[in-house]
Amino acid sequence: MGIPEKYKINSLLHQKHYLVNGELIEWSGDTSSVLSTISSTKEYKQTVLGTIPQLGEKQALEALDSACNAYDMGKGVWPTMKVEGRISAMENFVAKMKTKREGIVKLLMWEIGKTLPDSEKEFDRTVDYIYDTIEDYKKMDRNSAKFEKNSGVYAHVRRGPLGVVLCLGPYNYPLNETFALLIPALIMGNTVVFKPAKHGVLLISPLVEIFRDCFPKGVVNIIYGRGRLLASPIMRTGKIDVLALIGHSTSAKALQSLHPRGNRLRLVLGLEANNPAIVLPDADLDLAINECIAGAMSFNGQRCTALKVLYVHESIVDEFNKRFSEKVDLLKFGNPWEEGVKLTPLPEVGKPDYIQELIDDALNKGGEIINKKGGERSENYIFPSVIYPVNKQMRVFHEEQFGPITPIVSFSNINEPLNDMAESNYGQQVSVFGSDAKTISPLIDTLVNLVCRVNLNSSCQRGPDVYPFTGRKDSAVATLSVHDALRSFSIRTFLAMKDTPYNNAILQDLLDKKTSNFISTDYIL
Ligand code: G3H
Repeated sequence: MGIPEKYKINSLLHQKHYLVNGELIEWSGDTSSVLSTISSTKEYKQTVLGTIPQLGEKQALEALDSACNAYDMGKGVWPTMKVEGRISAMENFVAKMKTKREGIVKLLMWEIGKTLPDSEKEFDRTVDYIYDTIEDYKKMDRNSAKFEKNSGVYAHVRRGPLGVVLCLGPYNYPLNETFALLIPALIMGNTVVFKPAKHGVLLISPLVEIFRDCFPKGVVNIIYGRGRLLASPIMRTGKIDVLALIGHSTSAKALQSLHPRGNRLRLVLGLEANNPAIVLPDADLDLAINECIAGAMSFNGQRCTALKVLYVHESIVDEFNKRFSEKVDLLKFGNPWEEGVKLTPLPEVGKPDYIQELIDDALNKGGEIINKKGGERSENYIFPSVIYPVNKQMRVFHEEQFGPITPIVSFSNINEPLNDMAESNYGQQVSVFGSDAKTISPLIDTLVNLVCRVNLNSSCQRGPDVYPFTGRKDSAVATLSVHDALRSFSIRTFLAMKDTPYNNAILQDLLDKKTSNFISTDYIL
């Protein structure tokens, strides 16, 4: 099928600059091509979208210096700015960002293969996230716009920034998840070095100048190149206060281990999960199947909240498997802009081969592909395979596959999935399908202690973004919701003074003259 005119790639996007110290610096060194696994021609060929700079250690450290100078040991313009000032910078940013929707949505489709409705949703959700963050920050500020007195000591308690943040986002939500780190980090007064994800990098280009124009110099620094090559020397300096990363726990561990001053480093990490669904004998099967399809298949399973293993009670497993497999085979594969498309090209060239390895391993260990189209290959895709029966010897049972393959395990006793969850290195979310309150209640009481969100008769998901998004074990460090993220990127800090006439006169003067940006009892509208 032809590509609609408005989605064609008619010119290449060469990202020639990187942002350091408030300047767009032109790069004349090595560049790398940004390729899409979507073909523009009838004969399959990857599409070249443009190029990005391949910066090195020197530029990475310059970006770090720029962020450190902008923070200036807490004396910088941004960390000491009045809350209203930071809010107005953010309002300015989001207003300008909104004008770039069309271009960013198009790049989301080409760079990571996300469907048109989901790409639009990613953009709109991010804009909403920024507005919600601003509102929440105002609320937080209003709640602290006061003095309290205990045991003869006055206190004015607020939240202050942590310092310099290294921000690394993931390819599956290169805009939304990255900004869910970047925006709260910035609004709380931190300064940032930001490296866009490997896939989903050009879509940041329309925003680079806006970052430069809306924030004081050095507050946002954007660098391009290979993650390890840039992030490792930055971490080794020991100057990073917060590692904010959405990605894999192995990358997070490797980076945090490079930091020489462990207790200085705060972590805000959203990592992998292996979220299970548990389908009980009395579950509404239509509902369970629809939710499991959405949970396992949306964006081809490339979501950290995706359902990665389905535990189905042995009494209903045959019926479940039959209906689930038929539904999977009905999902339409195509390019992201095609009407009704649910499955789309995988952005990682090696992903179909990796999924194939998991399939072959499972087949060798007694599993079968139970849906007709499972494993069908094309140049940029491998159709979702439903694998049954799955046992613990199989790689697909343990590895967060992050792609189109769904293992099904049957169980007779509820302790089987519970024990597996307890043994697992992950603990983000679970879905439970059933209707009997007597069975579900004790299960919920246990599951909430194994993961951080129990989804009753619904698939796992992060949203709505006001709810806490976190995980146990290797699945997360710190909590990200609109509100919690503001807390994760800040620390309580306060002015305290004994209640004496001498101090009170000084304080009154401070309040009257409004000379401190920190001390304020103003109500921000
Ligand atoms: O990749 C992980 C995302 O946070 C999942 O978010 O549940 O809204 O797709 P989502």
